[in-house]
Amino acid sequence: MQHDKILILDFGSQVTQLIARRVREAQVYCEIHPNDVSEDFIRAFNPRGIILSGSHASTYEDHQLRAPQQVWDLGVPVLGICYGMQTMAVQLGGSVEWSDHREFGYAEVRAHGHTKLLDGVEDFRTAEGHGMLKVWMSHGDKVTTLPPGFKLMASTPSCPIAGMADEARGYYAVQFHPEVTHTLQGHAMLDRFVRGICGCKGDWIMGDYIEEAVARIREQVGDEEVILGLSGGVDSSVAAALIHRAIGDQLTCVFVDHGLLRLNEGRMVMEMFAGRLHAKVVHVEAAEQFMGHLQGVTDPEQKRKIIGREFVEVFKAEAAKLKAADASAKGAKWLAQGTIYPDVVESGGTQTKKATIKSHHNVGGLPEQLGLKLLEPLRELFKDEVRELGVALGLPHDMVYRHPFPGPGLGVRILGEVKAEFAALLQRADHIFIEELRKTVDEATGKTWYDLTSQAFTVFLPVKSVGVMGDGRTYDYVVALRAVQTSDFMTADWAELPYSLLKRVSSRIINEVRGINRVTYDVSSKPPATIEWE
Ligand code: XMP
Repeated sequence: MQHDKILILDFGSQVTQLIARRVREAQVYCEIHPNDVSEDFIRAFNPRGIILSGSHASTYEDHQLRAPQQVWDLGVPVLGICYGMQTMAVQLGGSVEWSDHREFGYAEVRAHGHTKLLDGVEDFRTAEGHGMLKVWMSHGDKVTTLPPGFKLMASTPSCPIAGMADEARGYYAVQFHPEVTHTLQGHAMLDRFVRGICGCKGDWIMGDYIEEAVARIREQVGDEEVILGLSGGVDSSVAAALIHRAIGDQLTCVFVDHGLLRLNEGRMVMEMFAGRLHAKVVHVEAAEQFMGHLQGVTDPEQKRKIIGREFVEVFKAEAAKLKAADASAKGAKWLAQGTIYPDVVESGGTQTKKATIKSHHNVGGLPEQLGLKLLEPLRELFKDEVRELGVALGLPHDMVYRHPFPGPGLGVRILGEVKAEFAALLQRADHIFIEELRKTVDEATGKTWYDLTSQAFTVFLPVKSVGVMGDGRTYDYVVALRAVQTSDFMTADWAELPYSLLKRVSSRIINEVRGINRVTYDVSSKPPATIEWE
């Protein structure tokens, strides 16, 4: 790949991915790798600049958490953020003081002198004429002595060295976090670093990327056949459209309808891919098979495992059929997946293993079982880039900007035992909720409530409650509406939907979906709740 590249070394901060997203927003290609990558790797990566991330660690506690010597020997600019600043200070001859007093949250930082990083970058000026920045801090330890060659770049009353620079070598460091949106000029600073200081061109543009990705897929695959599990979700849809653009009929999509999809989803996927794109799509109606295996199962983890396992079984059977039907007996050699960059980073890049809260459904292990090579054309992209690419490939905006939908589908939105009857009720109730969210525009922002929420859906509760309709008593099921706002799905707030909208949704569900007589709204944040109910 010919792009200018930035290397981000990850010391284990929760927000390292945000650094990469901000750099990509500046249209510069970057990758995140663990802080202890080999020196050969760094040399081969050939970065135009390096960014050292923050960490949960202290320079005192963990002495392996250092930047490799190669970082300093390579002669390219380096930006240290938070822990990255501290390790820069320690490794280059300054000092860091341990503190049990954490500074956390909003801070106003004074910018000193005119370093190239902060020149002209400020939020306001004090009466004395000092340029000030509104930033987000999260640290305990701090740098107390500048390394030789460095000058002071920023300070706060409680953190006298909040930024430092050695401009001759192109080394810059800040104690605050420019990657989070709470740091108002963070975007400008990272843009300045990667373009202004490292000299990257800004050539990472999704519209242009199609050609590059298409060429790469053609080169990888040659004249061999590819199969792909199409789920109707954003990632697999964009992967399918991209691969189809590259190799046309060498791609066969397998769309497994497990009966736990959203209303009309099967039809929509077929219309789009088979109808409009003229891709080869095998539509597998497997609802009965899935329901059969789910019968009597109430445990959420058990349900997830069954759905994941059955998905693999159905997919394997279809792959075998395709192979048998292929006259040339070549069969597929490749399995394509819509793996995106955050999946890659989460499965290998981070150092601290997180506790398993829910086992996420994916098709891991499938390529080995099928004896197929893996094709993952979205591996380098963040979700927002995947969406941009989808639009550039001609997929409809509504499909590409859809809320995420979990692999196990409605299986984790029907609490307890999954039954076809419950799925049918839930599909219709959920459809009404989504339709109203898409229709209702918030006057303050001019956006629809669908766009103002990150994820919204309906949950089926297998309990009955008493109601009254006309002159009669009803004894029917209950649903809960869930709508959240989040930037990373790790934490989320419940959305403050307008009462008038909730009222309309509730009245429509109760009137239009016979079998449901009560609608509730979920007002729990994550944590301590999760977004899905199971
Ligand atoms: P939770 O419920 O853990 O969900 O707060 C966070 C995000 O992950 C989605 N999710 C899944 N996605 N397979 C998926 O592909 C799964 O098994 C799965 N479980 C949860 C959930 O919809 C939310 O966006």
